[in-house]
Amino acid sequence: MACVPILLLVFLTGCLGSHKVCSYHDILVHLNLTRDNEVYTTTRPVLDHTHPTVVRMDLALYAILAVIEKTQTFTPFIWIILMWNNERVSWDPAMFCGITELSIPKEMLWKPDLLITEMTDMDNASQSPYVYITYDGNVTFEEDLKVVSTCKMDVHKFPFDTQSCNITVMSILHSVSQLRLTPSSNSSRITQFTRRVMQTQGEWEFLSLAVTNELFVLGDQNWDQIIYTISMKRRPLLHVINFLLPVLFFLCLDLSSFLISDHRGDKLGFKVTVLLAISVLLLILNEILPSMSNRTPLIATYCIVIFAMMLLSLLETVLVTHLMEKDKAASPSSPASPAYPSSNSPSEKGCARCACVCDWLRSETPRDHLPMAEQVADGGPPGGDAHLWLMVLQELRELKGLALGWVRQAHGGHPGYWTRLAYRINVGFFIFYVAVALFFLTLMIKEWQS
Ligand SMILES: *[C@@H]1O[C@H](CO)[C@@H](O)[C@H](O)[C@H]1NC(C)=O
Ligand SMILES: *[C@@H]1O[C@H](CO)[C@@H](O)[C@H](O)[C@H]1NC(C)=O
Ligand SMILES: *[C@@H]1O[C@H](CO)[C@@H](O)[C@H](O)[C@H]1NC(C)=O
Ligand SMILES: *[C@@H]1O[C@H](CO)[C@@H](O)[C@H](O)[C@H]1NC(C)=O
Ligand SMILES: *[C@@H]1O[C@H](CO)[C@@H](O)[C@H](O)[C@H]1NC(C)=O
Repeated sequence: MACVPILLLVFLTGCLGSHKVCSYHDILVHLNLTRDNEVYTTTRPVLDHTHPTVVRMDLALYAILAVIEKTQTFTPFIWIILMWNNERVSWDPAMFCGITELSIPKEMLWKPDLLITEMTDMDNASQSPYVYITYDGNVTFEEDLKVVSTCKMDVHKFPFDTQSCNITVMSILHSVSQLRLTPSSNSSRITQFTRRVMQTQGEWEFLSLAVTNELFVLGDQNWDQIIYTISMKRRPLLHVINFLLPVLFFLCLDLSSFLISDHRGDKLGFKVTVLLAISVLLLILNEILPSMSNRTPLIATYCIVIFAMMLLSLLETVLVTHLMEKDKAASPSSPASPAYPSSNSPSEKGCARCACVCDWLRSETPRDHLPMAEQVADGGPPGGDAHLWLMVLQELRELKGLALGWVRQAHGGHPGYWTRLAYRINVGFFIFYVAVALFFLTLMIKEWQS
């Protein structure tokens, strides 16, 4: 019984020994397929000219490289596969050791003249140099492309927006009677496939890839076109952190500035600084958003309204400061004003030497009595005395500032008519400001969510 497998083995080796060796080149010789054989390259590969060539295509997305709203360009990295039948190519696999397919340089065969209509620039550095052909003439051509295409974007809801960009593929020359273009997979399949092969998802989250097949009609001729619609959603976090929150923080700062006293220029300076900071942020916005847009972007409304509110509050502060100045200007000029009674003046309790400063302050033109530092240095007593004089002057100046502060405080105890009016304006405006800000922010959030 052991001799049966041995016999079988001997039989098999005999068969293999006489086995025909085939190379791909044999098929090329059989087909007379050479680089300069114009039969294969010049004309559409059909035996009967009334047959249209059916090109089936698929497209998937490897990556979304760039979406630039300013220039309205969309740069995806795509994978395309095209399949069509070349009626001139055919061989019997049985004659060539069962070879059913082989790859040949793509220049050897006719290729459909397809074009992406949105394309403005293309990087074909990674183009495959080969095509696959099968024994019954099916030709498969694959390539990876980085396409820079135009895409009309609606930035109304920026940065909470969803964009969809089209990639339209059609033949440059051949109308439907010569070339039919059909998608070989449906939308759900290519969406799934894209999800699987997607390499990077940066700022944009891929949502779906939909395919539609339409006729492009021009005059009395029709062209087949396939439209791939790529839907994607922006991840807004970066823009929220970089832009929306800072503007909101500045608004809060502006609100908090109502706690600063109105007496001095500090509040005005603070508000102007906040306003300037906002205008720097507006410059950033200018770099992102396109100038052409049929609907105003919500983010622009957001900025402009907040900017306007801050401007209004700045103007209100100017008004209030003006009213208080008015009061201040009115009181010291009246001779009967008990502005600096030495008995309640804190200067009396603070230090003895302040009393003389107050006396000096009470005089009509206090500035004239103080010689300038230069005058002292030039015409004053020579030597160490000049230095001493400078020190005394310095001290006097400081004391003057201190005393003025006390005087103002003493004033605050008995606010004049204008000051009281200013306070009322301040409180009223603050309530109005908070109400408008809350209402506006609610409105914006609602609009962004819709
Ligand atoms: C093969 O093609 C070449 C040129 O393309 C031609 O000259 C030659 O006659 C062809 N051979 C056959 C057997 O058809
Ligand atoms: C890209 O395509 C153009 C035109 O089709 C061709 O001239 C060029 O050689 C190609 N570049 C590469 C790197 O394949
Ligand atoms: C060639 O394409 C046709 C039509 O799509 C298909 O029916 C056939 O199976 C393909 N041939 C091979 C070998 O895949
Ligand atoms: C994309 O194609 C679809 C389907 O034809 C069309 O409705 C839509 O307007 C196109 N979008 C753009 C931005 O061209
Ligand atoms: C899409 O194609 C797949 C298989 O190719 C099929 O199972 C699925 O039902 C199709 N979906 C639709 C919506 O036609």
